[in-house]
Amino acid sequence: MNLLVTGAAGFIGSTYVRGLLARNGGPKVTVLDKLTYAGSRDNLPESHPRLEFVHGDICDAPLVDRLMAHADEVVHFAAESHVDRSINGAADFVRTNVVGTQTLLDSALRHGVRTFVHVSTDEVYGSIKTGSWPEEHPLRPSSPYSASKASSDLLALAYHHTHGMDVRVTRCSNNYGPHQFPEKVVPLFITNLLDGRKVPLYGEGLNVRDWLHVEDHCHGIELVRTKGRPGEIYNIGGGTELTNKELTALILEVCGAGWDMVEHVADRKGHDLRYSVDWTKARTELGYRPLHDFETGVATTAGWYRSHRAWWQPLKQRAQLPPGKSQEQPLKQPVEQS
Ligand code: NAD
Ligand code: DAU
Repeated sequence: MNLLVTGAAGFIGSTYVRGLLARNGGPKVTVLDKLTYAGSRDNLPESHPRLEFVHGDICDAPLVDRLMAHADEVVHFAAESHVDRSINGAADFVRTNVVGTQTLLDSALRHGVRTFVHVSTDEVYGSIKTGSWPEEHPLRPSSPYSASKASSDLLALAYHHTHGMDVRVTRCSNNYGPHQFPEKVVPLFITNLLDGRKVPLYGEGLNVRDWLHVEDHCHGIELVRTKGRPGEIYNIGGGTELTNKELTALILEVCGAGWDMVEHVADRKGHDLRYSVDWTKARTELGYRPLHDFETGVATTAGWYRSHRAWWQPLKQRAQLPPGKSQEQPLKQPVEQS
């Protein structure tokens, strides 16, 4: 079986592919990745008998077509994935997330690919004050990132509805774990603290996210690929909802730091208050459940960053956010606390 996996030099895709390669008798994997600022070739083995790495763009239709001709199934991770970057400029988000996804879907349709798993996000539903979104809830994305992901998510489902393609969509909550680019809150805060720098907490720190270990997420994706049904959407949750203040407290604790290391900065524009997905369907239909306990998972993740400075330090240095400013400078100015 030949599996085409897009975006697998990034955080989640690389965890998924390393998992497949570790399994005896797993599929042959072709990775297509553009190696943007967020992709690292060394997130994957340099060589492996079941791995082919292709450096390229999912918007490059001739290249996609050549690879799709040999693919039985596709798992599509490639995306621009950081909300703050989409606020600073949305063009790359529309290009990769929308046009890139459409390029892949068109090619998969032409080549009669058996199954196409599209990795979407809980952010497509928008913010929810109480309760949890079920899969059938209408989408109300609020950031340019989530709007581009909602577009690609709906496009994928439209290829099922219109053409009868076997498309399956996953919508998961906030991932954490090793190999995450140090711009997302968990690795940013851990690596700042490892450098003796303060961590920038947006607004009041009361926004809520549901935390999902990346290995649990990848297990969920594999269940959807192998046991899911065509045209279906599966929410994948982690079961640990925390305000950003609670998350920060845990990270400070595992890094041996105090609240004096927290810098309160102005809020993210249009900051969604809370995401929450109802993942009953994945549990009852596929037997999915997250296995990682968050407190242990975040401590292990901090340990990984402590022992992999050579991996994250160069990435952090080259991460420019916004263009012309360094991530090392807070994006937002510190604000007075009442
Ligand atoms: P990431 O930013 O770490 O990795 C993205 C990868 O895609 C990188 O390797 C990058 O080089 C590649 N890429 C970007 N543009 C490309 C293009 N045009 N052609 C080919 N490759 C390209 O992202 P991630 O956190 O691993 O997220 C993977 C997927 O999961 C994304 O679709 C994201 O929207 C979704 N997701 C992420 C989270 C999360 O918490 N990180 C949660 C829900 C959903
Ligand atoms: O919910 C799934 C989504 O989770 C994915 O689709 C996205 O790809 C992924 O980036 C993530 O989006 P978030 O915006 O939730 O993640 P981020 O790590 O950027 O921020 C998490 C929370 O922490 C959010 O409420 C904003 C806050 N935050 C973030 C940063 C980077 C801070 O307080 N300070 C920061 O410096």
